[in-house]
Amino acid sequence: MSIRLGDVAPDFTQDSTEGPIRFHDWIGDSWCVLFSHPKDFTPVCTTELGAAAKLHEAFAQRSCKVLALSVDDVASHTAWIRDIEETQHARMSFPILADPDRTVSTLYDMIHPAANDSLTVRSVFFIDPKKRVRAMITYPASTGRSFQEILRVLDSLQLTDQHQVATPADWSDGQACVIVPALSDAEAKARFPKGWKAPRPYLRVTPQPNK
Ligand code: BEZ
Repeated sequence: MSIRLGDVAPDFTQDSTEGPIRFHDWIGDSWCVLFSHPKDFTPVCTTELGAAAKLHEAFAQRSCKVLALSVDDVASHTAWIRDIEETQHARMSFPILADPDRTVSTLYDMIHPAANDSLTVRSVFFIDPKKRVRAMITYPASTGRSFQEILRVLDSLQLTDQHQVATPADWSDGQACVIVPALSDAEAKARFPKGWKAPRPYLRVTPQPNK
């Protein structure tokens, strides 16, 4: 069954490069980005894992744990990590799930038979501390992901959980936001003391409230 936004992220226990992971327990009170790779020892995946590893501090600042997945086993992942660290000049800072029996890939619908019936596509699941799936993105094997975009989505989710704003096109942390349509001008006045500009009544642009 496919996963929808707002669903509880399917729980699982699966082996990883840092030992068995009981997913919900492992997430604890953090956010989590779970992302899949087609296969070990592939070029795009190698660059992606290096890029994610270098952002260790950025994910930690957002209280977000990172968990990768590929369908190969732990021995293969461990050998691949040596290559990743050497070629990408990065220290791996998060576990890679080993999913040779496809337990997690199947639960999260990461295998798209029209692309390849045995390899996972590049899925990303954003999971909040209540274990709800808050956003998902899917890329084909040939397109490496932007980890800056992944951080940007996390920033938007965390900001919009706290304040009644939404984030406009190409927004990044610190930039102006839009006030959600559900809020009346009277309510907005109390919540947004910095005020807003409204080129249209439905388009109310305000400085990011927590900056
Ligand atoms: C890669 O990660 O480089 C890759 C994997 C599968 C197909 C194409 C590229």
